[in-house]
Amino acid sequence: MYRMISKSTDDTEKIGEQIANKLCGNEVIALFGGLGMGKTAFTRGLCRGLDVNDGVSSPTFALVNEYHGKYNIYHFDMYRVTTWDDLYSTGFFDYIDNGILVIEWSENIEGALPENAIRINISKGNNDDERIFEIEGVDIQ
Ligand SMILES: Nc1ncnc2c1ncn2[C@@H]1O[C@H](COP(=O)(O)OP(=O)(O)OP(=O)(O)O)[C@@H](O)[C@H]1O
Ligand SMILES: [Mg+2]
Repeated sequence: MYRMISKSTDDTEKIGEQIANKLCGNEVIALFGGLGMGKTAFTRGLCRGLDVNDGVSSPTFALVNEYHGKYNIYHFDMYRVTTWDDLYSTGFFDYIDNGILVIEWSENIEGALPENAIRINISKGNNDDERIFEIEGVDIQ
């Protein structure tokens, strides 16, 4: 498990970029952490690291946003997903293994996450702009 401290949105984006460099195109990246922790900021950095040119924004209403860069990236927001039926209707199971899945609010679909998912928990640090990243399932040395 890696622990990293972010002191700004920019730092958080850079953590995303750093992880992007370790991906091979079929990973599931499960993000945990409450409102405003920086899940979308992290995803923006990750996409930048994969040469995505489109803007990255929270897929709260669409449930899934699709980006194309070095790989296909499917950016989910599971905030409103509470049943298996909901989850099926997002297309989650069809996307697995066909691109990189980045999942905000993974808390809501914990039981559906593959065993080899990269798990990232974001929590508040000592001040408003500080975030603690705990990263499992990827070697970022
Ligand atoms: N170190 C930090 N990293 C990321 N965001 C930060 C940091 N410090 C402050 N912020 C602020 O926190 C907010 C993070 O917003 P963001 O949309 O990325 O969070 P989120 O986890 O996706 O939220 P939501 O649960 O609503 O989807 C932004 O307003 C950003 O300016
Ligand atoms: Mg978000």
